[in-house]
Amino acid sequence: MAIEDCKIISLPKIVDSKGNLTFVESRRHIPFDIKRVYYLYDVPGGEERGEHAHKTLQQFMIAMSGSFDVVLDDGLAKKRFHLNRAYYGLYVSPMTWRRLTNFSSGAVCLVLASDFYKVEDYIRDYQIFVRLVKQRKSRRGRKR
Ligand code: TYD
Repeated sequence: MAIEDCKIISLPKIVDSKGNLTFVESRRHIPFDIKRVYYLYDVPGGEERGEHAHKTLQQFMIAMSGSFDVVLDDGLAKKRFHLNRAYYGLYVSPMTWRRLTNFSSGAVCLVLASDFYKVEDYIRDYQIFVRLVKQRKSRRGRKR
């Protein structure tokens, strides 16, 4: 998995005089089945979230309200995404270190996830993450 696998995905937006409606369908708009939904809100100014990677979990993050930045890092390259609309989101692949920062007041981050909460799927130490990325890369190189 590389940073290029992480991308902004536009969602359908049904607009009428009564307001807008957006929807997300598993395997149609995002490349996984949704098993869990959670959301971040009331994040105090200046606070950051994330600072971890997942071994297998796929996620899709949407700024339902307000805005925030997501800084992604695959161990080799970093990329910053600014999320500020409810009709697009960011797909985050497994083995991607993420930091959520720059939350506006009233920001709500909705996360659609490919699996239930599993503590053992987390990598919370950046040095261990980098080591795992290198190990996987050299393993792949040897197989070729
Ligand atoms: P964490 O994933 O570290 O949050 P963030 O990356 O946004 O800073 O989760 C914070 C706490 O919430 C941690 O104790 C685990 C718990 N948690 C659950 O119990 N279930 C969940 O689905 C999530 C996402 C977190």
